Amino acid sequence: MLSSKKDGGAAANSSNARSDGHPQDFSSLFSRLDHQRAITIKTTAIDGLLGRRYSDRVLRALSLFLLLVVACHRAATDHTAVTPGPVTPGPVAPGPVAMQSPPDPHSFARPDEVRVRHFGLQLEVDFDARTLTGVITLAVQRADKGAPLVLDTRALTIDSVEVAHAPAPIDASTARLATLDAPWQTAAWRMGTADADLGAALIIEMTADVDVVRVRYRTAPSASGLQWLTPAQTADGVAPFLYSQSQAIHARSWFPCQDSPGIRTSYDAEIRVPAPLRALMAADPIPDAPAGVAAFAMRQPIPAYLVALAVGHLEFAALGERTGVWAEPSVLPRAAHEFADIERMMLAIEGLYGPYRWGRYDVLVLPPAFPFGGMENPKLTFATPTIIAGDRSLVSLIAHELAHSWSGNLVTNATWADLWLNEGFTVYLERRIIEALFGRERADMDAVLGRQDLAEALGELAPDDQRLRLDLAGRDPDVGLSDVAYEKGALLLRAFEETYGRAVFDPVLLAWFDRHAFGSVTTVQFEAFVAEHLQDATPLPGRNAVDLSAWLDAPGVPTDAPVPKAEAFARIDAVIPQFVAGTVPAAALATDTWSAQQWLHFLRALPRDTELARLRALDTRFGLGTSGNIEILALWLEIGVRHGYRELDSALEQFLLTIGRRKFVVPLYRGLLDAGRGDDARRIFARARPGYHPITQGSLDALLGGG
Ligand code: BES
Ligand code: ZN
Repeated sequence: MLSSKKDGGAAANSSNARSDGHPQDFSSLFSRLDHQRAITIKTTAIDGLLGRRYSDRVLRALSLFLLLVVACHRAATDHTAVTPGPVTPGPVAPGPVAMQSPPDPHSFARPDEVRVRHFGLQLEVDFDARTLTGVITLAVQRADKGAPLVLDTRALTIDSVEVAHAPAPIDASTARLATLDAPWQTAAWRMGTADADLGAALIIEMTADVDVVRVRYRTAPSASGLQWLTPAQTADGVAPFLYSQSQAIHARSWFPCQDSPGIRTSYDAEIRVPAPLRALMAADPIPDAPAGVAAFAMRQPIPAYLVALAVGHLEFAALGERTGVWAEPSVLPRAAHEFADIERMMLAIEGLYGPYRWGRYDVLVLPPAFPFGGMENPKLTFATPTIIAGDRSLVSLIAHELAHSWSGNLVTNATWADLWLNEGFTVYLERRIIEALFGRERADMDAVLGRQDLAEALGELAPDDQRLRLDLAGRDPDVGLSDVAYEKGALLLRAFEETYGRAVFDPVLLAWFDRHAFGSVTTVQFEAFVAEHLQDATPLPGRNAVDLSAWLDAPGVPTDAPVPKAEAFARIDAVIPQFVAGTVPAAALATDTWSAQQWLHFLRALPRDTELARLRALDTRFGLGTSGNIEILALWLEIGVRHGYRELDSALEQFLLTIGRRKFVVPLYRGLLDAGRGDDARRIFARARPGYHPITQGSLDALLGGG
């Protein structure tokens, strides 16, 4: 398995914490492809991108071409009921309608034949049975009238499939398909062979005039994209909780869909939940819902991985005109205090890369079982409660998820092999936000810590997986998740920034977001864009042009890559040898002004053979084992495990039983294994596993041989 940012090494990522956070009890808790330029791209790279289905695809593409010629002849008389294309509020012009997508090895969908343009979801949430039962109604656009609709599914029970010709044209900007009345007729359908990573195709035959499809289905209690929590696993302990996590390919486990980031749809939804629970979706609420039902609409076209649902005992606090936070009542005040800077962050990034095009931006604080730090669900970021440090020291995570409103949600990687276009861009944007709000020093410290993370990842990954342009065909896309996409990606953008200066490079990035707004993009398109916008630009004095193909397709980082530096770390570097040698004792460390990043830098730099007595002295003096900053706490626990500092055992066990964030728990279990404590690891995991999200369970099953 690849090392993963989320699975993290010892890496504590992009933390901006101060050490004086309150100790916290976590237990309560695609588009215009420039063909001329594109053909200059190395064909070997394209082979890699297309992966093992290439020859298959070539044959299909040829037959598709013939079909398209026929279809174009018919086009003038063909009625398609769908009004396609993005709908954007406000003054911003809609982006390009996606051209033919590149092949996505992680989806069975054939969007070049039949493409879903809008869907309506009607779901009933059953906490006792841990299932969603419902109906999805899909409006399709058909380039090939002979081809079936192919949807992705995983562990769904299909109860019925019906097809119809919509009684009136469907306007994606107003459609309410969740309740569409149409002359429904039973359809012929079948399931494809199930694949362990991809699930199974749902193949639906459609006669010539069909343009809407309705599927009745149920989810499995084990749905990989849902976590069902008992009241005891929530902060307030009074109500159960449900949330979805669809990235990368888990949307298919809770609704049949064309589950590829290259395929965008708008949607509407009606969710029935037991009173007094509240349902939220990463969409706009529709006010006129019937009693007991929450209705939503997402009018901008988005990929399936950004469809999100949460249900729980949730309340709201406004932060600004267009910003706010949702959390359980006991968490809400702390959350509102922690995230007070969001509006300033929005203004900062809008100043650089153009207006926020999603209307509202809210954050939903989830229970601590959430397997990630944050997920950029549009309009509504889902976040772990573990970033509430009390002192706003971990808000770079919010900056990151907010930045995805440009890099990722507005302009989306077309396949998971292009993940760096989402995550690398976002880390770069995140640091621009941090710099704008808190100064260059803090952003530099994040960049240095990020470079350390990258070095560690490069030390562990096979050469092919050190490339920005990945080949993930035949592999679970979750394994492509490593610091290469995040930190090597961000470093590449920084290389452009340093080569041409911000006065040149900032407008190029702005143009990228404008050109591809509401579209999905490939690495090949990025190369074309760079060639178009930077080939006539002159590097600053002393700088060489960026060797883009080396960054994209060679392992490691180019020798002339930027080297992030932080003055604030130099002071730490000076004292570390003295502390390790014992000439400066813990009590004499001048830590009063240390930021959390400085602490992280210090702790990361402690040699493996640091004497136990020194660690004990640090803990006694600074209470690291009870740090309110979870990045520091988790790193300290890992250091403890690796050094046999057994006094931390109960804090470690408590941590593993309450926190499900994969980035933290995987390194801790790995630490136990490396320390020869496999029995302890498996004993704790046996207790903790039922509380973990299926994603965390899967990573740990692989590590610990459980399941
Ligand atoms: N989109 C990611 C989370 C993700 C990536 C989920 C791939 C599933 C598959 C999110 O924006 C992210 O990067 N979260 C990070 C935080 C960030 C500050 C690096 C996390 O969860 O740790
Ligand atoms: Zn991200």
